Amino acid sequence: MKAAFIERHGGPDVLKYGDMPDPVAGPGQIVVDITAASVNGADWKVREGKSGQLAHFPYILGRDFSGTVSAVGAGVTDLRVGDDVFAVCDTGREGAYAEKIAIKSAIVAKKPASLSHVDAAALALAGLTAICTVEDTLKLKKGETILIQGGAGGVAAFAIQLAKHLGAHVITTASAANHDYLRGIGADEIIDYNKVDFTTIVKNCDAVFDTVGGDVAQRSFAVLKPGGRAAFIASGPQAPKPERSDVVALRPSVGRDRPHLERIVELVTSGAVRPPEVTRYKLSDAVAAHEVSQSRHFRGKLVFVVR
Ligand SMILES: NC(=O)c1ccc[n+]([C@@H]2O[C@H](COP(=O)([O-])OP(=O)(O)OC[C@H]3O[C@@H](n4cnc5c(N)ncnc54)[C@H](OP(=O)(O)O)[C@@H]3O)[C@@H](O)[C@H]2O)c1
Repeated sequence: MKAAFIERHGGPDVLKYGDMPDPVAGPGQIVVDITAASVNGADWKVREGKSGQLAHFPYILGRDFSGTVSAVGAGVTDLRVGDDVFAVCDTGREGAYAEKIAIKSAIVAKKPASLSHVDAAALALAGLTAICTVEDTLKLKKGETILIQGGAGGVAAFAIQLAKHLGAHVITTASAANHDYLRGIGADEIIDYNKVDFTTIVKNCDAVFDTVGGDVAQRSFAVLKPGGRAAFIASGPQAPKPERSDVVALRPSVGRDRPHLERIVELVTSGAVRPPEVTRYKLSDAVAAHEVSQSRHFRGKLVFVVR
């Protein structure tokens, strides 16, 4: 099969496109013929060696995908050859930048016909992360106010729509070029972070969801009301420490399971959440996709159309 892989850590140019061995379905696994796979912020960090050491090279990147089951291993009874499915690779596993992947069937969900493979791939890890953060970790409630940092990114765009669906008031940050997009997906207030320091105008939030990291993450504590909670996904494995004692800092646990993927399907097919804006790439253009991802200034998701 063809795949995009790295042979060593380094810049985008270490990403190669070529032949790799076909995967085989082990017990409890399926093989999926991948139609679309998405680029996630973690991918360039893994490529550069900033996100843990890799056990082997060549190493196929990629954490989420959508495609069609082409083989089932021993003991798999819930999925069949020909089923259209989407998934996020198991924790610590990758390999979605490829024409085929072997994966535990228990963490794979059926893709509804109304959702394209490209949109399903775009939604998988972003949606899973948004649901685990907004519903499971922050436990956002109707009538609460949330600041979502980095609104135009894939995770944040899902989170904005989910928070609105739950009945919250949503404030978000983005550069001016993305404001119409964010208004279109329901954000109530949008701050141009290039012009305005959010800490000067946002106050008394019940919750913060930071997808930006660094200084933005640390300064986000200032907008919380006493008792407020903040969740961070772009500050590494630990949440940053607040300088005040009356708020909580949380690092969501983003596990892999079928029910959370089915929650994505429910939210999207009911119309509560619409898929993000997608820029399509060929798998052979992974270098170009990584350069855009690493720039951190694009809208929605970058998706490889694999077949
Ligand atoms: N399970 C997990 O823990 C998990 C899962 C998924 C993602 N992540 C992490 O979460 C982060 C977000 O990922 P993502 O894929 O949604 O988006 P991303 O690709 O990392 O970010 C892109 C967006 O960030 C915005 N942005 C950049 N700097 C900003 C700033 N100072 N203030 C406000 N917005 C800013 C950009 O909008 P503008 O062009 O408007 O600046 C752009 O739309 C990444 O660090 C990723 O690694 C973690």
